Amino acid sequence: MAVIGKLDSSNLNGGQKLGLKYFSVAVVLFGAQVLFGLLAGLQFLYPDLLFGVLDFSVNRMVHINAMVVWLLFGFIGSSYWLLEDESGVPVVGLKLGNLGFWILTLAVVVVVLVYLLIQIGDGTHTSIWLINEGREYIEAPRWADIGIVVCVLVFFYNVAATFTKGRFTGVGGVLVLDLVALAGIYLAGMWFTPNISMDQHWWWWVIHLWVEATWEVLVGCLMAYGLMKTLGVRRKIVETWLYIEVALMFGSGILGLGHHYFWIGTPEYWFAIGGFFSALEPVPLVAMVVHAVFDAGHHKLKSTNHPALAWIIAQAFGNFFGAGVWGFMHTLPQINLYTHGTQWTASHGHFAFFGAYVTMVIAFFYIAVQKWRGNVYMSGNIAGGAWKWKWALALLHIGMLAMTMALLISGYEQSHIERAIGGSDWVAYFTAQAHPWFVQGMKWRQIGGWIFAAGFVLLVWDLLTIGKRETRPAQALVQID
Ligand code: HEM
Ligand code: HEM
Ligand SMILES: [Fe+2]
Repeated sequence: MAVIGKLDSSNLNGGQKLGLKYFSVAVVLFGAQVLFGLLAGLQFLYPDLLFGVLDFSVNRMVHINAMVVWLLFGFIGSSYWLLEDESGVPVVGLKLGNLGFWILTLAVVVVVLVYLLIQIGDGTHTSIWLINEGREYIEAPRWADIGIVVCVLVFFYNVAATFTKGRFTGVGGVLVLDLVALAGIYLAGMWFTPNISMDQHWWWWVIHLWVEATWEVLVGCLMAYGLMKTLGVRRKIVETWLYIEVALMFGSGILGLGHHYFWIGTPEYWFAIGGFFSALEPVPLVAMVVHAVFDAGHHKLKSTNHPALAWIIAQAFGNFFGAGVWGFMHTLPQINLYTHGTQWTASHGHFAFFGAYVTMVIAFFYIAVQKWRGNVYMSGNIAGGAWKWKWALALLHIGMLAMTMALLISGYEQSHIERAIGGSDWVAYFTAQAHPWFVQGMKWRQIGGWIFAAGFVLLVWDLLTIGKRETRPAQALVQID
């Protein structure tokens, strides 16, 4: 028997060991995201900073690509984490899965190096293949695209084959179907057309249908598993909720895609379709809040893993406010006409990605650390103190909310002065950028960024040390219902 409180891989099953590798790379890339975000933010305040060395366009690109990739690593890691528990059998094709991990990680490293080393130049067919595809969030060149697809197929094979061999739980079934959609949609962003409207049209399939449909369903699966693990909620309950959420999510998210088709040259009927269906998108997010909060209340917050549960609850609220409320604010075409592409969008983008996805992946980090340390007690009066995880949770939230509000004020000013009053011309653009509300918003965003970065450092420190001095095992969960 392993010693409780000591990091020991023999506490983990095969899928979990692989999951841990994915988590480790995820944390490093999260750090890179924060670093490059801070640099890009500073360049708003000091436009000459690092000009010609690390241009804003590069910092911004690394910032958001690191985000997409680390969250994907987090999701893949979390899926491997729950795979054997859910299916009841060892991962099928684990060796291949490990190989996939190394190839994917190597590809990411090469892509980032190329981004940093080759920052400007002509866009040609060669550069699409070797350097940069030029599509925001998924700029990776085509060779890497193909590599990513192969590795994701390996991951899919592991998941689908393991569930097929073992048992298909509700969580397992939804996860497998969702991964088909998630991988399939990625292909839509890989082909090239010189028609910018068509290009944008398909590119949104990846971006929107990932974050507002397939990723949401994936975190729904993770939440279901997380609630069973941390609270001991009965499977029947979490799975019933999961089905409801999935139905609503796909029902509103697929046609909600139209909110990105307002101004890219697509037919006018998208105004009505996009406006209507995307306005419904917050509904499933409310269901998720009710689900998590109801379960937590029902179990009187009695949990074996307080930090993980805290992050799961943070997810329910963050998703609802960041995606649901902040998305709803600018989703009607009548409003989007003024807010489109301003810092208002960035405010929503930050809050939504953090609230919906960062939170859930962090919850899984804590679930993983607990088991890695021999299923150590991680509630209430944990030895070594709970201040680190609580302060990390607080600082990351305060930092993110400060950034969100600052960006919202800047975005509001842009919508008003540049769009409504100035009529969106060249002069209006610069008048809005020079307005004190805009400039101050950028300063406050940076302050929020530093607070967020402090929270990140504390989080990493906590993940490395929590439970180290604890010797009690996690208490067994009594099912109340
Ligand atoms: C977790 C889910 C979500 C995430 C991660 C997310 C993230 C983002 C991001 C990053 C952008 C900026 C894209 C760009 O670079 O142009 C964006 C745009 C947008 N999002 Fe979301 N979003 C989510 C959910 C929602 C929901 C539920 C709604 C509506 C209720 C919504 C409405 C919009 C709209 C209207 C835009 C376009 C803004 C513009 O015109 O500039 N989003 N979202
Ligand atoms: C240290 C904290 C951070 C700082 C200082 C920061 C700063 C920035 C800056 C300056 C941009 C470019 C905005 C523009 O082009 O106008 C940006 C974009 C973006 N960042 Fe961050 N960021 C931070 C953390 C995060 C986190 C934690 C997330 C989400 C998990 C995130 C998600 C995004 C997204 C989605 C965009 C693209 C937004 C859009 O196109 O509308 N950032 N960030
Ligand atoms: Fe969208």
